[in-house]
Amino acid sequence: MSETHSQDHAAATRRFPPSEELAGQANVGPDVYERAAQDRLGFWEDAARRLTWEKDWDEVLDWSNPPFAKWFVGGKLNVAYNCLDRHVEAGHGDQVAYHWEGEPGDTRTITYAELTAEVCKAANALLELGVQAGDRVAIYMPMIPETIIAMLACARIGAVHMVVFGGFSADALASRITDAGAVLVITADGGYRRGAPSALKPAVDDALGRTDSVRNVVVVKRTEQDVAWTEGRDLWWDDVVGRQSDQHTAEAFDAEHPLYIMYTSGTTAKPKGILHTSGGYLTQVAYTHWATFDLKPDTDVYWTAADVGWVTGHSYIVYGPLANRATSVMYEGTPDTPHKGRWWEIVQRYGVTILYTAPTTIRTFMKWGEDVPAGFDLSSLRLLGSVGEPINPEAWLWYHEHIGGGRCPIVDTWWQTETGAHMITPLPGVTNLKPGSAQTPFPGISAKVVDDEGKELPDDTTGLLVLTEPWPSMLRTIWGDDERYKETYWTRFGDMYFAGDGAKKDEDGDIWLLGRVDDVMNVSGHRISTTEVESALVAHHAVAEAAVVGASDPTTGQGIVAFVILRGAAEDSGEELVKELRLHVRREIGPIASPRQIMVVQELPKTRSGKIMRRLLRDVAENRELGDVTTLTDSSVMELIKEKLPSST
Ligand code: WTA
Repeated sequence: MSETHSQDHAAATRRFPPSEELAGQANVGPDVYERAAQDRLGFWEDAARRLTWEKDWDEVLDWSNPPFAKWFVGGKLNVAYNCLDRHVEAGHGDQVAYHWEGEPGDTRTITYAELTAEVCKAANALLELGVQAGDRVAIYMPMIPETIIAMLACARIGAVHMVVFGGFSADALASRITDAGAVLVITADGGYRRGAPSALKPAVDDALGRTDSVRNVVVVKRTEQDVAWTEGRDLWWDDVVGRQSDQHTAEAFDAEHPLYIMYTSGTTAKPKGILHTSGGYLTQVAYTHWATFDLKPDTDVYWTAADVGWVTGHSYIVYGPLANRATSVMYEGTPDTPHKGRWWEIVQRYGVTILYTAPTTIRTFMKWGEDVPAGFDLSSLRLLGSVGEPINPEAWLWYHEHIGGGRCPIVDTWWQTETGAHMITPLPGVTNLKPGSAQTPFPGISAKVVDDEGKELPDDTTGLLVLTEPWPSMLRTIWGDDERYKETYWTRFGDMYFAGDGAKKDEDGDIWLLGRVDDVMNVSGHRISTTEVESALVAHHAVAEAAVVGASDPTTGQGIVAFVILRGAAEDSGEELVKELRLHVRREIGPIASPRQIMVVQELPKTRSGKIMRRLLRDVAENRELGDVTTLTDSSVMELIKEKLPSST
């Protein structure tokens, strides 16, 4: 641990200025900061003008009823038209939109003209099924082109998509369908993962047994697995989409028309449906994608190696790249199928120039060793990106050297499902890069580090990150729960947005993100709430009480460690039960929430007011000396827990 720390320290003090070549030809130069500082709203107006609007806006920002923002008020546009038709109309129909690669090795190349035609057909199919503007459509899919086609078809007709990550369980899907009131589910028989077909349709069937809003299920054939079929409800994509016309005229919608809902974990067991709307969202994802990645649509081959089921996929596989007419790569499977060099083979095959991924993946590649990427030609790469959690300087340097060949800038982008788009990030042609720090608020974004009272802190002091001005791609509310929206983000500091992240500014004013300060864990870049896992555990008949903490993990950032007290009647407290509980959490939430470790204990440390002291449990989970135990009701509890766990360390 201490060795890593000192290596990290040495790495963190190195600086990487942009090459003269890049600085000279980057899409944005240092002047954007000044422009945005002088006229923030004018700056975002310029960004909005990169899109095609059917009707201009009357007002840039309406903040008369905070925290409910309206951007580009009165403006009208169609999001899918901006991502598709306008590029075809401008003569770029033959440009590749996606080089798609399936895990078994099958490939598809889809041009902008083809994608437009497919989206029109899917839009016509949705209309035939009675889906109307404003209706919610659940999408539960593997990483295949139809997922993107389905999203854009919704956007095209003004339906609100709600993509649920294919790794989530039937339970998680059911609660999201119910909360959103979805009328249609688009799914597939399955997808490929780790060399085998992995089914999706059974989870949909299961979920729909517990919900009543869904009328139809449209099923894409991907793996040719057998599927159960409900006549009258289920339809094959090939039938219902296949027979449609490829012509559909996109209607313009209000700038504030809802575009999608994406559920994310909060501090309670119930996930929050983050609502994004059209004009402001597309403005900021398109502009940040162009500026942060210095995207050159005619020459770049861009790859966000993430799942479309997360916000990173929405903003930087689908909407940003398509709005900018990028040529993208999309890959279905896992990085080590069938071999550990799969990603680098893909980079080599398509000549990828820009790669965007998460620190946890980079650390996994580090573990596999630099010989793996060294076996491939990665010379096409010119820029690298990182997202999802703080990237430790050592991983930054490894990425820089062994993937980027020492020549590619790395943009460490801080943002959230709620922010919709990049908020704090270096700009590749401008910033003197500092490994480990996301550095600078994006032009037009105002961030501060404050104390508990909301007072701005001096440099080098650890505090809380807040955003002090509304931004175009901000969430508009939590679906169906305006109060929770206010409470979660805007009550703590009044008129400032509380991000839930710890942060500090260094003496150069650069921002370092320090992880979540609430009960949200970050496991492999995925947000999982401790409460959600706890309530899954206590839902099991053998468990009386549960406490869950995120313990630091060298690969995944954090790992889930659960402490459970069994019910009196539960006989078995051994390996079998632990296995069963782990399976139970997978079933309730999904494999990503499965605890790394489950410890059966007699008692949990609680304060006199009955709050579980997670801090102490984290100390145990991370094998540290115990911190202050004086506020415990019974300080011998911790001794008991430690005694119970000789093998846990
Ligand atoms: C964390 C993912 C440090 C942070 C886009 C945030 C980061 C949460 C970074 C949002 C980064 C994301 N540096 N921390 N570059 N990017 N985070 O909603 O804790 O899945 O609050 O959005 O991830 O996760 P979410």
